[in-house]
Amino acid sequence: AIRIKKICCIGAGYVGGPTSAVIASKNPDIQVTVVDYNRQRIEAWKTDDLPIYEPGLLEVVQAARDGNSPKQTPNLFFSTDVDRCIAEAELILLSVNTPTKSLGRGAGHASELFHLESAVRKISAASESDKIIVEKSTVPCRAADTLRDVLAATAKPGLHFEILSNPEFLAEGTAISNLLNPDRILIGSLQTPRGLEAAQALANVYGAWIDSDRIITINLYSSELAKLAANALLAQRISSVNALSAMCESVGADIDEVSYAVGLDKRIGSRMLKASVGFGGSCFRKDILSLAYIAESLHLFEVADYWRSIVHINEYQKNRFTRRMVRCLYNSLTGKTLAVFGFAYKKDTRDTRETAAITVVDDVLTEGANVRIYDPLVKETQIRHELKSTTARLDCVEKQLTVCTSAYEASTGADAVIILTEWDEFSNRGEPVRRDSGHGRKTDERAERKVDWTRVAELMRRPMFVFDGRNIVDAGALEELGFRVACIGKA
Ligand code: NAI
Repeated sequence: AIRIKKICCIGAGYVGGPTSAVIASKNPDIQVTVVDYNRQRIEAWKTDDLPIYEPGLLEVVQAARDGNSPKQTPNLFFSTDVDRCIAEAELILLSVNTPTKSLGRGAGHASELFHLESAVRKISAASESDKIIVEKSTVPCRAADTLRDVLAATAKPGLHFEILSNPEFLAEGTAISNLLNPDRILIGSLQTPRGLEAAQALANVYGAWIDSDRIITINLYSSELAKLAANALLAQRISSVNALSAMCESVGADIDEVSYAVGLDKRIGSRMLKASVGFGGSCFRKDILSLAYIAESLHLFEVADYWRSIVHINEYQKNRFTRRMVRCLYNSLTGKTLAVFGFAYKKDTRDTRETAAITVVDDVLTEGANVRIYDPLVKETQIRHELKSTTARLDCVEKQLTVCTSAYEASTGADAVIILTEWDEFSNRGEPVRRDSGHGRKTDERAERKVDWTRVAELMRRPMFVFDGRNIVDAGALEELGFRVACIGKA
């Protein structure tokens, strides 16, 4: 049996960082080094101001990286010395980004495997011993064949490289609890003796904290496809509910009640049935487009159309939200002020990739609105960067956009509040929230409390509107304060 003593993870992002930290913390005998050519990112991982925010991440990183518990000596490292770390490791996790291609054939649809291929070329050049190479990145079907081909043509003779597929199913915002307690770990390998042996070596790493019945070993290509399939099915549920939400608004039904009612059917289940302004994040859109592109390249055009319709409904939902808002605000946003609550693509993350907020804010800026954005975690530079890279109207971002440090500052003089992220603090339901201390923000009494909507009302211009793109507010309670409230999927 192969015993893993050193792991090298290439890619220090949302997947590579948290996954490596959890593997290291659960395997004190394995040295885990995360490498990236982005020096700034690597340096940040060495501090307590980590490059990404996830609840509980800092504690896990500190335990493994700093060895500050009696049972653990440091075994989690971050480095830009990619070649050395590759050479030393027996097992290499590929956690590089696989975005949608922006150039050439398949641009806007296919996955860009450039980063993956470059990483494998690095592995090939730096390796003096056999390696197990693990696809953690989400990849198109049969990407493993491409990697094997590159290795066969470039590596030193006599070395053996075994490719495994081990897709990551963590969700941002809950990454650490997903990693500690996953629904399943999928390990795909060739069904050859060496393939199975490599799969077992990786299974043993996970076996340090996950029961063997949740570690599933399957065929390499099933595993690659299962990841795309999982994301497509999750997004499909959201688009299905969002499509129903459009009907609800016209027939006087309430999408929350419809979702609740259908979710009680055990065959359907209640999760991922929440209507919203539209899904965001770096994965759903890109993975569905990749799946559709693969279907198309197999001449399965109806299949491709089916998957693409999920993305179409999502675009439609974002546009529908803005259209309704403009209609409520008397068909003109010129000179009006809109307070945007939330910019991250979901709560408990600082990630803004593909967030619906980009589309909505871009739309209302173009309509002439002044926009005042508040997000508890996302920094001003990032909000401006996202909008500037999307909009055709840079002048609007310069002149009409203000990024605020509180919900109250954003609401001052506003005609409407637009909720775009479901941060707990924006809801007027339930108990006041206290955030955990793991995100590195200074403890601030006010920041830990929920938004005081009475105070928001005092600051706004009349008539005042709330457009809840996440269905997190109790509309009745806000109406008592004098707000006119529009929720998704409610008349
Ligand atoms: P990311 O963009 O946050 O991180 C990727 C990192 O890889 C970057 O820091 C980049 O500098 C580095 N990198 C790229 N090429 C490199 C090379 N040749 N050598 C060294 N470093 C290199 O991406 P993220 O979000 O972590 O995603 C990674 C993969 O995991 C993607 O395929 C994604 O689809 C998949 N995934 C992402 C999830 C998420 O929630 N973000 C969840 C599950 C899968």
